[in-house]
Amino acid sequence: MSKSTCTVTINGKKIKANVGDTLIDAGLGGRLVLPHDCCSGQCETCRVRVLGGNVDGQGTEEKNTVLGCLALLEGDAEISYDPVPIVKNTKGTVESIRAIKEDYLEVRIRTVRPVTWLPGQYLRVTFSGYPARDYSPTTPLNLDAEQDVIVFHIKVYPNSIVSSQLGSNIAKGHSVKLRGPFGNGFLRRQPEPLVLTSTGTGFAPIWSIAVAAVLGQPGRDVRLIVGSRTRGGLYMRDAVRWLQSRDIPITLTASDGDDDTVLSARPYEVLGDLTPDHVIYSAGAPSHVEATRDVARQAGATFYADPFYVAEQSGGLKLLANSLLRKAKTPFAPAPAG
Ligand code: FES
Repeated sequence: MSKSTCTVTINGKKIKANVGDTLIDAGLGGRLVLPHDCCSGQCETCRVRVLGGNVDGQGTEEKNTVLGCLALLEGDAEISYDPVPIVKNTKGTVESIRAIKEDYLEVRIRTVRPVTWLPGQYLRVTFSGYPARDYSPTTPLNLDAEQDVIVFHIKVYPNSIVSSQLGSNIAKGHSVKLRGPFGNGFLRRQPEPLVLTSTGTGFAPIWSIAVAAVLGQPGRDVRLIVGSRTRGGLYMRDAVRWLQSRDIPITLTASDGDDDTVLSARPYEVLGDLTPDHVIYSAGAPSHVEATRDVARQAGATFYADPFYVAEQSGGLKLLANSLLRKAKTPFAPAPAG
């Protein structure tokens, strides 16, 4: 039995597709590659706007957006997505590894050619001899950026396959491959008020968004809510100082907070007043991102997610299936990772 066909218009281009196709498959039929990565509803890279028509979001609806890897065409439809840099492969070497605080490292990679990414996106990083991990490039905490040097924040987990090797078997000069960028949680240059929230090393994409917004959109209302399981995980002191010197409100939270400089609360509990005008970016532990998503939904605010999933499970360091192996940047997570 032949499938019934329909027309999907993607960023103005009309494409013949089959009813029941995912939006990504429909695009491919017209040789249009929608941004994507995991194809399993995890990474948010494929989130697109539905401008009209018949799309079944399969439960992925967020305001007028859906995930293109899961949403199905039910008939003619029109969708659009924001242009992003093309995914490319690049090589590099470890330039430096520096402990920022306790188990938090700043890792710098010098690349053989410039890597283009938007604040809030992530890269797939393969240290030679080790499995790939996804990390968010970020602005150095003291803003001493160098050309062709990518900066990551990485939490070290004892006995993990990759992060525990940083500074020992993975050291200055180690070969690295990078692929990307991926991710939909990147800064859009809208004028609406911005709420940025993270747990753990989810601060990396949030910090890069904050710097780009503060420097690139001086009049924009920006506030940050940054959490960690314990105060010891709040590794971003230099960034806090920089933001406060520019009168950007930042709230720090931890379960052992003192309610003076660090609140004893979860970040989603102290997001502050939200309206449908607000634009919220949330990065870090999936539980944090989901809780923030719920609060954003209740307020009718626009929401962008960057959930970090564990790459290794406790009790044997079992690797998850490839579709789950992304986002090894593991803040606030109970299982060893990285
Ligand atoms: S490609 Fe759709 S969520 Fe990852």
